[in-house]
Amino acid sequence: MPSVFIKTYGCQMNERDSEAVAAQLVAKGYAIAKSEANADVVLLNTCSVRDLAEQKAINKMRNLIGTARKDKPGQIVGFMGCMAQSRGQELIDKLPDVDLVLGTQKFHRAAEYIDELLAGTRKQIVDVAAEAKSEATIREHLLNGSAKTSVSAFVSIMQGCNQYCTFCIVPYTRGEERSRTIEDIVAECRELVGRGVREITLLGQIVTSYGKKEKRDAWQAALGAENSPLITHHSSLVSPFVQLLDAVHAIDGLERIRFTSPHPKGYGDDLVEAYARLPKLCESAHIPLQSGSDRLLKLMHRGYTREKFLGIVKKLRAAKPGIGITTDIIVGFPGETEEDFEQTLSLCREVQFDNAYIFKYSPRRDTPAAEMPDQVPQEIREERNHRLLDLVNEIAARKYDTFIGQQVQILVEGPSKKNAARYTGRTRCNRIVLFDGSARHQGQLMDVKIERTGSFTLYGDPAVVNL
Ligand code: SAH
Ligand code: F3S
Repeated sequence: MPSVFIKTYGCQMNERDSEAVAAQLVAKGYAIAKSEANADVVLLNTCSVRDLAEQKAINKMRNLIGTARKDKPGQIVGFMGCMAQSRGQELIDKLPDVDLVLGTQKFHRAAEYIDELLAGTRKQIVDVAAEAKSEATIREHLLNGSAKTSVSAFVSIMQGCNQYCTFCIVPYTRGEERSRTIEDIVAECRELVGRGVREITLLGQIVTSYGKKEKRDAWQAALGAENSPLITHHSSLVSPFVQLLDAVHAIDGLERIRFTSPHPKGYGDDLVEAYARLPKLCESAHIPLQSGSDRLLKLMHRGYTREKFLGIVKKLRAAKPGIGITTDIIVGFPGETEEDFEQTLSLCREVQFDNAYIFKYSPRRDTPAAEMPDQVPQEIREERNHRLLDLVNEIAARKYDTFIGQQVQILVEGPSKKNAARYTGRTRCNRIVLFDGSARHQGQLMDVKIERTGSFTLYGDPAVVNL
């Protein structure tokens, strides 16, 4: 029985895709290897969002080839995911020993291709073609596979993004927006809940645009193209994404719902109201800001203003006091001046994010921003990165401290990776809590009292409230 090892770079969507490919291979009789050293097949599931992520995977592949060809002749090595999609054949030109390059719409063919490579019927395979309905093939992977049961699971609801932010490579690596149907998604969620899952995170590159394209297409077909300007007047007040949230919410036995990543433009009143209306929807929102400067938001093609963003935060906090709000910010976007950057600092002071992921701008090939004038020198990107990090960390630490003495509900995920005597769970607002637990706590919803805080962690005492 050949064994496979998959190493994943990047976002939760990639983790989800790796699980699906692993499940597919297991269903075909493959074993999952504990390490790359003794695996018959090693796959790198890649990320292209920043150059550093690409370089890491390329260096890893160089090392693999170096050892594989010496210590384990016949080992199959391959790239899959975003970098495989955006670079395709070029990866083989650069690293001729690579056996497989599998694009983002081809995950469902992984087992078939690996069988062929192992059997020697094909020597090298590059497949990065687009494939209609590839977004719906994902579910079958799960059903066939033996994806490990945990209390929390990811469910992919859509693929691709049509927003085309000028810095972002995702529309090119993941393609056009394509959504699965509500029935299909709900069926997968039910299945997961049947296996013991209690929390589901709905995943997509721009989840708030879920089903929009399909809805528009359906209307266009029904009305005829000449009537298309009327379409917006016919649209119902509840977006397809909120309809999906309602449908998933109705699943018995499911306790918590989360989603990522949304786009600020998707936070209409229907979604804000959903937070107040749906008790299973956790009070946590990751709302990517990117910049606090209107001038830059426009250059980035983000489709909202600073004021609009602030309005969303205000509405969410009114609907759900205590909601955890996190964000993504890019520093050093082309043309970013000191004034623009200060607008970002001031917005962070105003919003008081619970946490913020800060990225130094990285030019991506074929994206409009890479060609823009006034690229910001590397040392200024570094310097702004530090200044912003100092501010957001200071705010985050202060917010963590406000939890001390509070009682919070956590969903227990399992033993902590760093210290097996400790168990780890998450609050509804998505903060990690460590406590002295045991196997009987796994998968439980329980209340703990927060005793102290560490870096981005809360320490809780279950005994205080669970006597
Ligand atoms: N909506 C997507 C966004 C993917 S990229 C998702 O989460 O699935 C995640 C974050 O990386 C973005 O929000 C942005 O802050 C950052 N990012 C994207 N392109 C970048 C670039 N070229 N340079 C630096 N950061 C970038
Ligand atoms: Fe990228 Fe913007 Fe879409 S950040 S994933 S193009 S919303």
